[in-house]
Amino acid sequence: MEKKWWKESVVYQIYPRSFKDSNGDGIGDINGITEKMGYLQELGVDVIWLSPVYQSPNDDNGYDISDYQAIMEEFGTMEDFDRMLAAAHEHGLKLVMDLVVNHTSDEHPWFVESRKSVDNPYRDYYIWRPGKDGKEPNNWGSCFSGPAWKYDPQTEMYYLHLFSEKQPDLNWDNPKVRQEVFDMMNWWLDKGVDGFRMDVISLISKKPDLPDGPVGINGYASFNEPANGPHVHEYLQEMREKVLNRKETITVGECSGVTLEEAKKYASSDGKELNMVFQFEHMDVDADANTKWTDKKMDLRDMKEVLTRWQKGLEDIAWNSLFWENHDQPRSISRYGNDSPEYREVSAKMLATCLHMMQGTPYVYQGEELGMTNVPFTSIDQFRDLDSINAYRELVEEQKVFTSEEMMRYLRYKSRDNARTPFQWDDSENAGFSTGTPWIMVNPNYKEINAKDQLEREDSVFHYYQKLIRLRKEQEVIVYGTYDLLLPDSKEIYTYTRTLGEEKLLVVCNFYEPEVSFEMPEEFIGGTCLISNYPEVSLKAEMTLRPYEAFVIKK
Ligand code: NOJ
Repeated sequence: MEKKWWKESVVYQIYPRSFKDSNGDGIGDINGITEKMGYLQELGVDVIWLSPVYQSPNDDNGYDISDYQAIMEEFGTMEDFDRMLAAAHEHGLKLVMDLVVNHTSDEHPWFVESRKSVDNPYRDYYIWRPGKDGKEPNNWGSCFSGPAWKYDPQTEMYYLHLFSEKQPDLNWDNPKVRQEVFDMMNWWLDKGVDGFRMDVISLISKKPDLPDGPVGINGYASFNEPANGPHVHEYLQEMREKVLNRKETITVGECSGVTLEEAKKYASSDGKELNMVFQFEHMDVDADANTKWTDKKMDLRDMKEVLTRWQKGLEDIAWNSLFWENHDQPRSISRYGNDSPEYREVSAKMLATCLHMMQGTPYVYQGEELGMTNVPFTSIDQFRDLDSINAYRELVEEQKVFTSEEMMRYLRYKSRDNARTPFQWDDSENAGFSTGTPWIMVNPNYKEINAKDQLEREDSVFHYYQKLIRLRKEQEVIVYGTYDLLLPDSKEIYTYTRTLGEEKLLVVCNFYEPEVSFEMPEEFIGGTCLISNYPEVSLKAEMTLRPYEAFVIKK
């Protein structure tokens, strides 16, 4: 297999609004990130992925961009950005920008022009259609509730927005749109950034006839209907030629609705498109058939089936990205582990072991390395995320699909705001995030869970992540070894091997609290333990795994 630096790297995602506020306005900012480069270096990560920092009216916290070449005022200035980029490089860290080009803000000058008249030169930058029988052009729903179409009285037509009304979809079939995007990307590369995470890039190419899709619980088809459209690979290959080939970059496509077969094209090792994709099948194992709004727990066998299919499916053909968390997902220990004071650290370490030992590039989302948990929200007024607020309005108030109590339970379990509360730096007021009033509540458990405590404590989740990241640099088999699942039918244990030539690792994780017996494969008896989440492990033929126990053995 071809060796690449981005296969050997660990990426850390920063959600700037919630990372560190340097000027006391309650909102995280770029100078706050610059201050914390030393922290990231100590953790040992190689690459920072920065959620959007561009000028934006903030309908969707920066994923609605009104100027791709300006910095959001709340976050600082372009000079601040340049200083942050230089600081990252001085600390040996690469910086990846979030490229949000499936849509712009409705306040972007292109859209301001586009909506003016049908013959405006920017009209065809977006997707406009006449209504059908006085209604929307098709049955697609927005990711954030309601229809994916908005009627615009100025020209008496509808525009497409797979996300909020303030995020109109760009028309990628227009070569001028593609050239504008490529020019902008080149401008950032010339500035010195090291790559791009591409927001919902799987949705950019729509079938020309925009066909209806099957409807979900709110009566609309999924926003994912256009996924993997007819020209998406062609457009990404064009991007590779006109932009990405100019420089050594790291690229990851956020590919909602991607299948394994499609991923082989997006992330093919022939290097024609992207380095890797984010797939979401392992984020759907605890969803209901047609909605994520439930508090159902996953069946571990489903998780193993999905992750193993991706591990084996991309082997030698493409490259996986590995993640439990990001700014769109709840906290992983509250979801797939146990966030009680007794078990949160051990279960956080177990989840980290399970993920970081797989083949692929691992992504750590800010606070995950501390074992930050979901948030005990008590009222809908505490939420800031439009996805959560709109879903509550639609499913509780308008359509009465759920009672308010049910929906609050689901939001506490699944809302994106669980991952968006301020980073917990220390046990001082506002968790050391800001001297002002934070834009969203601080998780009240910051006195127990914070970076200051964990940096001082050798057995902390932070130091466990640090060790996992270091191991990846020391043991080639973690990066390049092949993956093979053992015990596929176990409901409690996730165990697999990694093999590279003569080298072989065994990874063992008990996903639950009850003790469970485990028979050690013979070849690993007498092996060396590389890492474990309990202070002592005695390796025997017949073992009893303790609550959330995890370890890695080298033959
Ligand atoms: C995916 C992003 O990760 C999410 O936060 C955002 O709301 C949508 N794309 C729309 O840009």
